[in-house]
Amino acid sequence: MFDLLVKGGTLPDGRVADIGITAGRIAAVGQLDAQAGQVIEATGDLVAPPFVDPHFHMDATLSYGTPRVNASGTLLEGISLWGELRDIATVEDMVARGLRYCDWAVSMGLLAIRTHVDTTPDHLRGVEAMLEVKRRVAPYLDLQLVAFPQDGLYRSATGRANLLRALDMGVDVVGGIPHFERTMDEGAESVRDLCRIAAERGLPIDLHCDETDDPHSRHVETLAREVTRHGLGGRAAGSHLTSMHSMDNYYVSKLLPLIAESGLAAIPNPLINITLQGRHDSYPKRRGLTRVKEMQALGIRVGWGQDCVLDPWYSLGTADMLDVAFMGLHVAQMTHPDEIARCFEMVTQDNAAIMGLDGYGLQPGCTASLVVLDAGSPTEALRLRPDRLAVISKGKLVAQRNRNDARLSLPARPQQVRRRF
Ligand code: FE2
Repeated sequence: MFDLLVKGGTLPDGRVADIGITAGRIAAVGQLDAQAGQVIEATGDLVAPPFVDPHFHMDATLSYGTPRVNASGTLLEGISLWGELRDIATVEDMVARGLRYCDWAVSMGLLAIRTHVDTTPDHLRGVEAMLEVKRRVAPYLDLQLVAFPQDGLYRSATGRANLLRALDMGVDVVGGIPHFERTMDEGAESVRDLCRIAAERGLPIDLHCDETDDPHSRHVETLAREVTRHGLGGRAAGSHLTSMHSMDNYYVSKLLPLIAESGLAAIPNPLINITLQGRHDSYPKRRGLTRVKEMQALGIRVGWGQDCVLDPWYSLGTADMLDVAFMGLHVAQMTHPDEIARCFEMVTQDNAAIMGLDGYGLQPGCTASLVVLDAGSPTEALRLRPDRLAVISKGKLVAQRNRNDARLSLPARPQQVRRRF
């Protein structure tokens, strides 16, 4: 007798299996002939572990147009707008926006999010708000917070002190932004400093790193070296790494093995990088995405991150990690069937590994969190970005939609099967 039984779904590896859930855990996977308190019929549907987003900014989300829109479309104007918004936003505003976004996320089967929270202002209202959101969503969504000194660890007078205060308040991960420090030297020193802090406190580290088109922005080299020096491999990530797109190829041939040796993971954010980078170019315009396939070929773990939804940097977004992977596979030219399948793994298991999630997966003993999609395979899910028919979090059904039969009768018209908020 199971609490919940998901019947007949197709798993990402192609197996067709029932999944029995008891006491918040996956109790059995296979052809199960047992009673259950609740049955979800998933024959013909893809049943996957939940989507995971390893890079987001929840303190800024759903604020688009406040105080005004980003007219230039650049990273720097976005940072400037955010600098105004963060001092007028109340804790209540940020909690309300964060909770609303988490509702969107759950409806899309996105059940774990790592969000960077700005630790620059002395009031630390963003930290207070995001700790509250984390507490309130904990029963159904795993929220991990990164102490992010948006205005620079050293460039802002109280940047370092406030980052440490945020960690003392219970923020989970050490963040940074070396390319935004005053000089290349101070950027490199911030990386060394932040890695020491992570090592001393036993915390993961995830730095915004080289988010620029400057081919000489090479803080990822310092990050990889320091991750190796402090043994932070497996709990360290470099986010964005866009300068690698523009770096000299010979230099990259030396850099990538250094990253692989360190165990540093990479988190490109394709929706944002394709829109923010290359804004100072005429033609040809650079794509601004880091070297995804080349890193994966060397065994470097790469995940896709969402980064922004309706905020000073990005005017769109839906909390759908399939949209993120869809953009990523286009920009990185990952169109071979194996590469498309890999993109689905990136927004599920690779992202989960980057966040260090315990009990993630569909094996017996794992936390009973999963999503049922109106698609037959990971490749079809990426093509259609279909309805999430059911979302189960920690053993409980948290979202459900009626099946849309249009997919079967009109497979060539994906607009018939897309449903949005
Ligand atoms: Fe970011």
